[in-house]
Amino acid sequence: MVDLSTKVAGLSLPNLLFNASGVCCQTEADLKLMIESESGSLITKSATYEYREGNPSPRYLPLPSGLGSINSMGLPNEGYEYYLNFAKNYDYSSKKPLFISLSGLSLADNVKMCEAFVAADLPCVLEVNFSCPNVPGKPQLGYDMEAMENALNVLAPLIKKPFGVKLPPYFDIAHFDTAAAIFNKFDNLVYVTCINSVGNGLAIDFETESALIKPKDGFGGLGGLMVLNTALANVNAFYRRLPTKQVIGVGGVTSGKEVFLHVLAGASAVQIGTTLKEEGPTVFARINKELTDIMIAKGYKSLDEFRGKVKTL
Ligand code: FUM
Repeated sequence: MVDLSTKVAGLSLPNLLFNASGVCCQTEADLKLMIESESGSLITKSATYEYREGNPSPRYLPLPSGLGSINSMGLPNEGYEYYLNFAKNYDYSSKKPLFISLSGLSLADNVKMCEAFVAADLPCVLEVNFSCPNVPGKPQLGYDMEAMENALNVLAPLIKKPFGVKLPPYFDIAHFDTAAAIFNKFDNLVYVTCINSVGNGLAIDFETESALIKPKDGFGGLGGLMVLNTALANVNAFYRRLPTKQVIGVGGVTSGKEVFLHVLAGASAVQIGTTLKEEGPTVFARINKELTDIMIAKGYKSLDEFRGKVKTL
């Protein structure tokens, strides 16, 4: 028998797979599909303080040849009270832990949202998103190390309980080092999720000579298979640098093979974005089966046996 169970932030997940925040998680109907799926957990769409319509459409498109996707959704969400209400009514005995993503447009908004969740004292886990690339005029906090540390100085003591942060991809060893040194200062920051989309790509249609999506002159976050290696590098970089914390891997998963690679790089759980969006929630059953088959073929019985064990030459 193969065991796909894992623990994140002290909570047990029956298997390591769940949705990337942003996919199948904006409304209660979406979240119900996640509950009914064979995912091991679920995370809500990043909430802002108020409801947001998001950017104009077209704002998401899959790219040709299975490359992945581009999106500039612009944080469409129902406002944090909707997700707080969902969290209050969530069946925590269901065995699927609930993660709540928060992406305030200012530190003050993040404070107000965290305070409301802390006051409700629920067994869900908060994940603060420092990495949405798609809100015009709002740079990704994860690329401003000083501002990110300042935010953590305020939010970590406020949240008190174990929480996580969603990070943008980093591309320089110095940035891995600096970011990790910041995260290591906060004991209750227990995991990082790597990576959000690779921000501000541009997809152009060859025939029409037009950008494929409307917002931001066509600039949007890249996801799917084309970001796999960037995701693996970020997972492994933080796995190596955050010895007392965990990493959730996201980026480039189309099959059990990429999940296996994320765990080899150091992931404790793995989220699926573009492939979930394109295939729907049955993707979890398929990929759990594919990962199980890979582990049987390789003789692994649990994720612990190969987590973080990528060999180097
Ligand atoms: O545009 C969006 O809603 C994306 C959010 C994110 O990448 O965090």
